[in-house]
Amino acid sequence: MSKTYITTAIPYVNGAPHIGHALDYLLADTYARYAKLRGETVRFQVGTDEHGNKIADKAAASQLSPQAFVDQNSATFKDFIHALGVEYTDFIRTTDPHHIASCQQIWQQLQPHIYKSTYTGWYCTGCEGYATDTEYKDNNGICPDHQKPYERLSEENYYLRLSDFKPVITAAIKSGRMRILPDFRATEILKLIDSAPDVSISRPRANLNWGIPVPGDEDQVMYVWIDALTNYLTVLGYPDSNISDFWPATIQFVGKDILRFHAIIWPAILLGLGLELPHTIHSHGHILSGGKKMGKSLGNVVDPLTVLNSRGLDPFRYFFLRHIDTFTDSDFTPEKFETAYQKELGNDLGNLVQRLATLASKAGLTAISAPDPSALPTEYLELMDSLHFSRALDYVWSRIIAINQAIDTAKPWATIKTDPTSTTKILSELITDLLSVSVLLLPFLPDTSTKITGIFTTSPITPPTTPLFPR
Ligand code: MSP
Repeated sequence: MSKTYITTAIPYVNGAPHIGHALDYLLADTYARYAKLRGETVRFQVGTDEHGNKIADKAAASQLSPQAFVDQNSATFKDFIHALGVEYTDFIRTTDPHHIASCQQIWQQLQPHIYKSTYTGWYCTGCEGYATDTEYKDNNGICPDHQKPYERLSEENYYLRLSDFKPVITAAIKSGRMRILPDFRATEILKLIDSAPDVSISRPRANLNWGIPVPGDEDQVMYVWIDALTNYLTVLGYPDSNISDFWPATIQFVGKDILRFHAIIWPAILLGLGLELPHTIHSHGHILSGGKKMGKSLGNVVDPLTVLNSRGLDPFRYFFLRHIDTFTDSDFTPEKFETAYQKELGNDLGNLVQRLATLASKAGLTAISAPDPSALPTEYLELMDSLHFSRALDYVWSRIIAINQAIDTAKPWATIKTDPTSTTKILSELITDLLSVSVLLLPFLPDTSTKITGIFTTSPITPPTTPLFPR
């Protein structure tokens, strides 16, 4: 059995989860369930990013110690991940003592590539990162993501010598050994790498107190991104345990805003540790609200739990996996969500299950055997393997629509009286087809898929008393 390791970005716990945070988890969970369907053993990491000034400032504003504040917010994220039905295997917090100790060991292993120097530049606390001079000019001195002016900082920091690794990273991206999806993002990264300076990987304690101490230098604290990125290894037990069963990662899911950290700094760390690069980094677009990036500072945050509770989990998963494009930005609106619920889930799928179960029940059909789950259609496999989830759902829906059309053409409600034998045969074929569709739905809508399979594989076939997607 082959092994799959899937990772998600660990969110900052400076606030409550917003609807955009759902995307990493839903994409990763869909892939994890797909991998399991294909018989793979899956390790699936999620977690929370808990250090840095942004978090310490929020803790102070809430009159809590940083630790009490992150304990509270990390638990909220964990609840959120459960609410999304995510079947993760490991939850990591960057304040876990094991992570802190391992991160310090990693720092020591990277020593040959680390040096100390002074840096002056434009910093955004929202990004926890420096903008280049060009970005600073293009953005008129204001971070476009956080709508905050950049701060001029001059500090003595430790640096990771990126130049040691640039040629290998570039070659890995070009050859597809480290696949970056979508392709246009790989092109952007290749352009960025050329001019990328060495990375500042620490900050003076005077400017960053809430973080992991640099081993051997009491005055310096690790830059939050070093602390955060290494979670993908420490969660597997690195460096104390052998991680070769699951490293290199199969797919790392991240948003487009943090791809550069994952496609440049992260590979440099891995190469510095003598580890292999991940097979794939998947960079998704952003969910916009009213055409703008969602953020507290912009006041347009959509609460995911309100949307989720309005129609239940599977409708929520469905909308995000089909109508939020897998790779580009998409707008969330309650109207679009409701239309998809009524038309696609209610009419196309819910009604299909109801009427097929009713016809089968009237015809006295007994249980139909479930299809072999490993026999998946090539078109579906190709779309899932290339992580085109919304298109894979388009394909599944074309099959659902085809079954509806086949019922309309065959009119079994009329022929059952005149030709019961061939009607029963036709109904069995249609149900077998629906059961195959149900398997394809499993990674996306696990609960619905289980219900559909249950209805038609149990004797006597009985229509559900409540429709799958009530009005
Ligand atoms: N803490 C870092 C990640 C460290 S990973 C080693 C971080 N946190 S975050 O909370 O800002 O973002 C977490 C994830 O949510 C990222 O993948 C980010 O792209 C994603 N999203 C944040 N807002 C989003 C949308 N509006 N839409 C889709 N994804 C969004 O960055």
